[in-house]
Amino acid sequence: MVNIILFGPPGSGKGTQSDKIVDKFGLVHLSTGNLLRQEIADRTPLGIEARNFMDKGQLVPDEVVIGMIDSCLEKHASSKGFLFDGFPRTVAQAEALDKLLEFRKTGICKVLALEVSEEELVKRLIKRGETSGRSDDTDETIIRQRFAEYRAKTEPVAGHYAAAGKLERIKGEGTVEDIFVALSTCIEPQMADKVTE
Ligand code: AP5
Ligand code: MG
Repeated sequence: MVNIILFGPPGSGKGTQSDKIVDKFGLVHLSTGNLLRQEIADRTPLGIEARNFMDKGQLVPDEVVIGMIDSCLEKHASSKGFLFDGFPRTVAQAEALDKLLEFRKTGICKVLALEVSEEELVKRLIKRGETSGRSDDTDETIIRQRFAEYRAKTEPVAGHYAAAGKLERIKGEGTVEDIFVALSTCIEPQMADKVTE
């Protein structure tokens, strides 16, 4: 399996680039944000619990998202690999993911970290908030809270994978296409001996 983490702060382009990467490389896209928003739309107990945190720009508790990921890995057990978007977001989540993958005799190949200035991120999210309907995009205070959570709890995840020699930093500003080319250049060698088409 080829398992890649697309890493970066809120608004760095993880969702935009994930769509293109899964199209090109045939990986299963696993976005915990999208999964949680689906739970909210379906009004499940998990969604009702998660909403309290998401509306405030706070992270949802680790055990909730780790459980979700476990069932997705199980559901797509025979896939070519996974593209993780917005997960792991804490060191505890990263350690849990390592164990879940190890149990399935696989692991993370690369962590691709998109780097974008905070000024640009705020601009992107406020603009998206005009049309997205996402409750956490409309208020700049909530957007800033998401960055604070990112700095305190998520940035250390980069260190976890840097220590394992798996982290690559990619410039996340510029055109969507140029960033996609840079990401693809990092992914292609991982896929080289796996792609059968
Ligand atoms: P999540 O849904 O993961 O949101 P996020 O990380 O805050 O990031 P976004 O989805 O807003 O941004 P993105 O990086 O995907 O960028 P995008 O491509 O959309 O999480 C939401 C919430 O769910 C969290 O706050 C938390 O509460 C909870 N949650 C989720 N996962 C969790 C976990 N693992 N643990 C605990 N809680 C969790 O792009 C953004 C905008 O910029 C778009 O409008 C796009 O068109 C535009 N754009 C993209 N690329 C470019 C470019 N190159 N130039 C100009 N504009 C661009
Ligand atoms: Mg996203």
